[in-house]
Amino acid sequence: MILGLETSCDETSAALVTAGGEIRANVVASQADLHALYGGVVPEIASRRHFELLEPVVTAALDEAGASLDDVETIAVTAGPGLIGALLVGVAAAKAIAWGRGLPLAAVNHLHGHVSSLYLQPLDLEPPFTCLLASGGHTLLLDVRERSWEGVRVLGTTLDDAAGEAFDKGARLLGLPYPGGAEIDRLAREGDPTAFAFPVARLDGLDFSFSGLKTALLYAVRDLGEAETDARRADLAASYQRAIVRALVERIEATGADRVAIVGGVAANSELRAALPDAVAAPLPLCTDNAAMIASAARYTAALEPGAYLALDAFSTS
Ligand code: KG4
Ligand code: ZN
Repeated sequence: MILGLETSCDETSAALVTAGGEIRANVVASQADLHALYGGVVPEIASRRHFELLEPVVTAALDEAGASLDDVETIAVTAGPGLIGALLVGVAAAKAIAWGRGLPLAAVNHLHGHVSSLYLQPLDLEPPFTCLLASGGHTLLLDVRERSWEGVRVLGTTLDDAAGEAFDKGARLLGLPYPGGAEIDRLAREGDPTAFAFPVARLDGLDFSFSGLKTALLYAVRDLGEAETDARRADLAASYQRAIVRALVERIEATGADRVAIVGGVAANSELRAALPDAVAAPLPLCTDNAAMIASAARYTAALEPGAYLALDAFSTS
């Protein structure tokens, strides 16, 4: 079995996955409540909380799998991109466990992890396909040729905010708690998506831009005033979500691909999933950050032998 660790942002997660891609345990301890006090992730608080949570989370994952460290053959960890202090906690823990047990260690790219959520059982999706990876930190259109990260090519990316960031910033403007994506998703169901005409950026090629949309919401909220914004919050959420989903769907369609998959936190969005009925969507629990996807990516990553990984470092940007 592979023991995966994920600490790149505000979820502390440990998972046990077999070489065949079966999930035996996938424990995720979200720190969202802690960061909600500040309206977003506070990096220093995230690092300290990962440090407190990692050992109990690993123990809980082993218990859930009915396994012990004797059953673990490889350690997998997110090396980046993400919050550097948060990543370092996971990388240090992974090195310690691997070194202590004389096991190989796979350093996984977090983005490869998101794509590899599609390779877990029972989905087990075979490349080639075109993949939208939309999360709090990234919005990428990927040409996935092979399951290794080397077999993935970037077709388009965001020039400013990530799609999840657009959801989170929009939620904040609407007075909704962090993390805002799921909140907007819920509220939008009660609103009219045609109530407000928010702009969908149309760039040449396959890139995205969400900063104009965020500004449009800012102006709408300012023009409406507090009482009217309060009364029309669901309409604002529905219209704003519609604009983000249209931007994502239009870009996917522009690739002309017939095999499409969606992964990352924003792939949990109900309107996006409904707008792409033919696409393969990552299972809901595997959309937001989790260690099962990191262990899955390790199946297609050359692991480092003991000694070779002692100098392994985390990296913040891809
Ligand atoms: O993949 P993820 O857990 O972390 C990153 O790697 O960034 O994605 C988190 C992002 C957040 O921006 C969150 O608001 C968004 O995914 N998200 C959603 C939904 N659930 C999470 N966005 C829209 N609709 C949702 N249901
Ligand atoms: Zn992520």
